Amino acid sequence: MSSFAFSQENETKFRALLERYPEKSSLMLPSLWMVQYQEGWISPEAMQFLAQKLECSAMDVYSVASFYTMFNLASVGKYHIQLCKTLSCMLRGAQTMQAHIENRLGIKPGQTTKDGKFTFSLVECLGSCGTAPCMSLNDDYVENLTLEKLDELIDGSAS
Ligand code: FES
Repeated sequence: MSSFAFSQENETKFRALLERYPEKSSLMLPSLWMVQYQEGWISPEAMQFLAQKLECSAMDVYSVASFYTMFNLASVGKYHIQLCKTLSCMLRGAQTMQAHIENRLGIKPGQTTKDGKFTFSLVECLGSCGTAPCMSLNDDYVENLTLEKLDELIDGSAS
């Protein structure tokens, strides 16, 4: 028995979606989003829960959740910086941005600051190569990233 359960609000949303999409596997992505917005990440217990709800295996849930970097498979800080490390962004200064983030926050990729405010991750292409370098801060993209923009975001989020 899973120790995770949807909130009442998410349970209601799930039932409403089921009426529109009777094929339960179609609800994988919206269900993962509901878990992430409820808990901040997709825990193994939540994967078990979704497997029961969607009538599939926990491995099926894991395979989808782990494919997309937008799903967090570990607890993250209040602000999650995901910096693109792929070619276009790399050619346009992603490594300089990475060094700046590491210096400002005192953490390496995959780590969270001690106060729990920032998690820093390196990710593959965010699909915004034309505005490289690019990163996301929680649900928002930050494009044409500069050191000044980074400082503004970090200072604005830290307060
Ligand atoms: S290479 Fe960075 S967004 Fe595509």
